[in-house]
Amino acid sequence: MNEPHLEDIEIDLLLEAIHLRYGYDFRGYARVSVGRRIRRFCSRSGCETPADMIPRLLHDPLFFARILPCFSVNVSEMFRDPPVFRAIRELVVPVLRTYPSLKIWVAGCAGGEEAYSLAILLREEGLYERTTLFATDFNAEVLERAEKGSYSLGSAEAFATNYQQAGGKGSLSDYYHMEHRALVMDRSLRENITFANHNLVTDGAFGEMQMILCRNVLIYFGRQLQSRALELFSESLARRGFLCLGLSESLAFSIAQEDFSTLDARLQIFQRNR
Ligand SMILES: C[S@@+](CC[C@H](N)C(=O)[O-])C[C@H]1O[C@@H](n2cnc3c(N)ncnc32)[C@H](O)[C@@H]1O
Repeated sequence: MNEPHLEDIEIDLLLEAIHLRYGYDFRGYARVSVGRRIRRFCSRSGCETPADMIPRLLHDPLFFARILPCFSVNVSEMFRDPPVFRAIRELVVPVLRTYPSLKIWVAGCAGGEEAYSLAILLREEGLYERTTLFATDFNAEVLERAEKGSYSLGSAEAFATNYQQAGGKGSLSDYYHMEHRALVMDRSLRENITFANHNLVTDGAFGEMQMILCRNVLIYFGRQLQSRALELFSESLARRGFLCLGLSESLAFSIAQEDFSTLDARLQIFQRNR
């Protein structure tokens, strides 16, 4: 029998400690990247081994707050992967237009960039007024940023290029103003967005969505967790609802795969069969 690597045991114990003490369950996250990020954090925090971090973690919630970002990579952009937003405009919007009211869930919304992008797209398509957008994440700090809708001025050019490539109908600057060297999204875009805390590992389904976007989140999950999240999405979608995953994610590891047809295989856009 292969001896388990000592460091793997220490990481298991660390993840167990986080779960028991703080209720966050990272035990099913993709092991290679979790291990890499824990090792990096370990050396930065002056600990010799992952096991050394356990007593600090148990007794010091601030230490836990510092380790949390290891599991929560918050990188995002407005209109990230522009062809996806173009495809939503061209393939999904004509169907959404047939509903009198719409519910859309952006799961793992990070700083809100994806939710504001959708709000802009829906406004340009005349659908915003009939839509409720739920944008969720398990990281309270990023949700606070998302509520503010404030982004660094340095991102403006990249965001504007994405917006144009995504088929934007005006200029991105129509939707924000400058405040203290930041770009702040218009309050009117926030009116139909509810930002909320939701953990895809431990929390339940959201009902009857016409579309769910969960992009660049499942890549951090192991197969079993990916499967759980995909089943959650299948349960949360209304009949013939749409699901958009990240470009390097797929339905492959889940029995939920049977519930969906592929609308665009390259862009990972799916539609529920029933
Ligand atoms: C890389 S960002 C993706 C942001 C956006 N969806 C995009 O594609 O640009 C990943 C987000 O997933 C969130 N996340 C990670 N694990 C989660 C979980 N178990 N439940 C909810 N959100 C989670 C992180 O906090 C982070 O904000």
